[in-house]
Amino acid sequence: MTKKLHIKTYGCQMNVYDSARMADVLAPIGYSTVDDPSGADMVILNTCHIREKAAEKVFSDLGRLRRIKDRRREEGSDMIIAVAGCVAQAEGVEIRRRAPYVDIVLGPQTYHRLPEMVARVSRAGGVILDTDFPQESKFDYLPAPNRVEGFSAFLTVQEGCDKFCTFCVVPYTRGGEFSRPGAEVLAEARHLAVAGAREITLLGQNVNNYHGAGHAGDEWPLGRLVAEIAEIDGIERIRYTTSYPADVDDTLIAAHRDVPKLMPFLHLPVQAGSDRVLAAMNRRHNVDDYRCLVERLRAARPDLALSTDLIVGFPGETDEDFEATLALVAEVQFVQAYSFKYSPRPGTPAAAMPNQVADGIKVERLARLQTLLNNLQQAFNESCIGRLMPVLLDRPGRAPGQLVGRSPYMQPVHVSAAADLLGQIVDLRIENARPNSLEGASLLAPVIPVADVQGIQA
Ligand code: SAH
Ligand code: F3S
Repeated sequence: MTKKLHIKTYGCQMNVYDSARMADVLAPIGYSTVDDPSGADMVILNTCHIREKAAEKVFSDLGRLRRIKDRRREEGSDMIIAVAGCVAQAEGVEIRRRAPYVDIVLGPQTYHRLPEMVARVSRAGGVILDTDFPQESKFDYLPAPNRVEGFSAFLTVQEGCDKFCTFCVVPYTRGGEFSRPGAEVLAEARHLAVAGAREITLLGQNVNNYHGAGHAGDEWPLGRLVAEIAEIDGIERIRYTTSYPADVDDTLIAAHRDVPKLMPFLHLPVQAGSDRVLAAMNRRHNVDDYRCLVERLRAARPDLALSTDLIVGFPGETDEDFEATLALVAEVQFVQAYSFKYSPRPGTPAAAMPNQVADGIKVERLARLQTLLNNLQQAFNESCIGRLMPVLLDRPGRAPGQLVGRSPYMQPVHVSAAADLLGQIVDLRIENARPNSLEGASLLAPVIPVADVQGIQA
């Protein structure tokens, strides 16, 4: 009998990958995914702990789920509630205290054990808390992925982080760095290709520090892994995220030069444009290192565009520091960015720093930064008008006869085209730019004027 599983994913792409894999491990015991939690037999919240807002959202969502669970129980059935991901890892005990109706609390490293946990809860009730960092790797227990939504797939190749940026919880919630062996990654990439993926995004908290076992007792850096994946038939586009600037090495820069399937778009979080703030953040680059790195990357791949992450209002950030961030953003010309107000996270060094910045100042700085970022994004989109761009058509548009795809730079591109072009990469002439998307010239057969048709007949 099939049972309904609803998974809600918060936060990063890594969580998107983990959610898909949780669905894969639960499929053999009868669970298939549904969009609506209200009739579900099991709900998993796959949570994010990176900023306070994300973590608090989980508790308000749990309140809503509790009411559904109570109703289901009154009707004589039940709903298993599981909290997974980084809030579970960091606040497992707190979840049990604040939300005792949660059945399963599991961290990001133990979800291969989900079928066993579900069986135990269904049989005996009670609460399971499993936030170990187990000896065994979950990857050895996960079934091969067999579904790809929208021709684009995530593939986790590296997990954890040893960098300990002073603002960040990731090293605590995801543990130390670990790279999957190259052969295992290639096998998963081939499965994804067979399942219909045309694009693969390699994931890791610190993906460019990938150093998985190679074929001959050697270690592969990320550049080598990218080159190996590029050999797989059917995979036409490769991306990777998230990168740590100080760990970008020569092989990766060479891959940007030599592997055409590697997309010319790179997410390279800089966080701030002031050396003083970068040092306090324990980032291992200064502004000049970042500049030089961008130059080397652009020399290897002249059409490379960059996106980034930025934090405003880090403890001790002065007006001058913030102006330096604006200046760097304008200089590098990021075409896309995620920008955040600094959010103190319990247990991280920055949360205990004395010179916290007032929220009002953070709000003001974020607004100024985002105005600049939006302007840069809009300018980049406008610079695409008239260009011919390869677009992976990956979903139907809202209007009938319309498809939406992705440019090499991840811009959504709307185009009038027949549905059988879904999954194809087509060269589109860009005709129009909006703040967050582009419009390509129609691919529908051109309408031949009646006069010409008669001309042909005559
Ligand atoms: N591995 C990536 C970062 C992953 S976390 C790197 O090398 O930079 C994703 C982003 O969330 C970070 O880049 C940072 O900009 C933001 N972030 C992390 N902790 C934060 C905090 N405490 N407050 C605000 N933003 C934060
Ligand atoms: Fe976080 Fe810094 Fe690692 S932002 S994920 S500690 S590189």
